[in-house]
Amino acid sequence: MSRKPLMAANWKMYKTLGETREFFEAFLPKIKDIEDRDIVIAPPFTALALSCELVRGLDNIRIAAQNMFHEDEGAYTGEISPLMLKDIGVELVILGHSERRHIFGEGDELIGKKVQAALKHGLMPILCVGERLEEREQGLTQRVVETQLQGGLKQVSNGEVENLVIAYEPVWAIGTGKTATPELAQEVHQFIREWICKKFTSTIAENLRILYGGSVKLANVAGLMAQPDIDGALVGGASLKAGDFEKIVRIEG
Ligand code: PGA
Repeated sequence: MSRKPLMAANWKMYKTLGETREFFEAFLPKIKDIEDRDIVIAPPFTALALSCELVRGLDNIRIAAQNMFHEDEGAYTGEISPLMLKDIGVELVILGHSERRHIFGEGDELIGKKVQAALKHGLMPILCVGERLEEREQGLTQRVVETQLQGGLKQVSNGEVENLVIAYEPVWAIGTGKTATPELAQEVHQFIREWICKKFTSTIAENLRILYGGSVKLANVAGLMAQPDIDGALVGGASLKAGDFEKIVRIEG
């Protein structure tokens, strides 16, 4: 399999500048030797510039934003544009996270525009999809995920989709301690890859990295990474401590 694992930390609304510096001071020496996987850290907006500065020159770790708006500039109070992210050295952006969808009401159309804008500016989107508990219980998982993929990737061309990562994050597993079993996650990952194959090409589907997210921790990451269609993890709570996240990053599938 040619897909290089990608292990991403989503810090959400945690860490001041002092805490960010402390994390990187502890984390960077620990991961110096890692070459067989990509590491991504998504700090909050206020810590992005500092984080970019701290990882500058290292080629195994990159910085992601947790969100952005799709316009280059304008009267959009409180928003951040792709150009501003590029300007400080951000390379990826998480889009469509379930907390954006369900707490802040972001819909597929908006998320699709954001994905498009990120790609246009050379930022790699990590497009998040995932069903809520009641949707799973009603047997709607695939339908929900398909709708989110359709909306998120609506305008995306074959050339562009190669610069994108998808994260499957069942909403019921995020921050709840209830991880999907490896088999259950694999089922959805396989569905996503097959869908990508139909919409784009089999080569694109074969090369696309699909991460799993939702209560990933050291105790469950190996089982998840062992699945054929799980190419990495998007880790929230367990990514906040340098030592814990380093151990998760190193897990072999
Ligand atoms: P969690 O968050 O690992 O704390 O469940 C994952 C995410 O929301 O990306």
